[in-house]
Amino acid sequence: MYIAPSILSANFGKFIDEVNRIEKAGADWVHIDVMDGHFVPNLTFGAGVVEALRPNTKMTLDCHLMVSNPEAHVETFANAGADYFTVHYEATSHLHGLIQTIHKHGMKAGVAINPATPVSAIAPILKDVDMILVMTVNPGFGGQSFIESTVEKMAELSTFRAENDANFLIEVDGGINAETAKICAEKGVDAFVAGSYIFNKDDVKQPIDALKMAIK
Ligand code: DX5
Ligand code: ZN
Repeated sequence: MYIAPSILSANFGKFIDEVNRIEKAGADWVHIDVMDGHFVPNLTFGAGVVEALRPNTKMTLDCHLMVSNPEAHVETFANAGADYFTVHYEATSHLHGLIQTIHKHGMKAGVAINPATPVSAIAPILKDVDMILVMTVNPGFGGQSFIESTVEKMAELSTFRAENDANFLIEVDGGINAETAKICAEKGVDAFVAGSYIFNKDDVKQPIDALKMAIK
């Protein structure tokens, strides 16, 4: 089980301090939300942030690319030191090839699906990926509410994984708190992204501990 705080909700002026703070508090991964103002309306940051964080933390750098044309960024993120490079199913027409390119660049490949995208859409690539990210909100902004109808997709992925000897991780992202994390953990989810739930507190250890307790 992995707790992955999203720095989208951190103080943008102090990324390194914020990352040190969550690492000390027991986080496993840093979730980096890359938005291009095109695939999603919001605009955030790119590989430069990954490069700045890499020498400052031992945590896994979990990059979530909410961008059109993710193909264009594989090499820069690999060079910057990204561990996971997760692309949206909805953002590419060449998913299978893109997964191969991500692997060729030495990164783990993740595929994200929006709330309206069914698991059946990604069935052909489930044995080729390292992680499936089930979006539990519509991507673009932090602080939204968890969409309940996404839960059955987690169960479907867990069943597929068990029956087909596949070994991708299942990650959830959006509206995650102790209560919603517990619901997801019961469906076999492995990695939990949380932004506002963690960074809105002065003491980030308290929400991280609460999440760990909830998913145990
Ligand atoms: C949403 C992003 C999320 C976001 C989650 O588009 O992908 O990672 O930071 O924020 P919370 O946990 O506040 O819903
Ligand atoms: Zn995200």
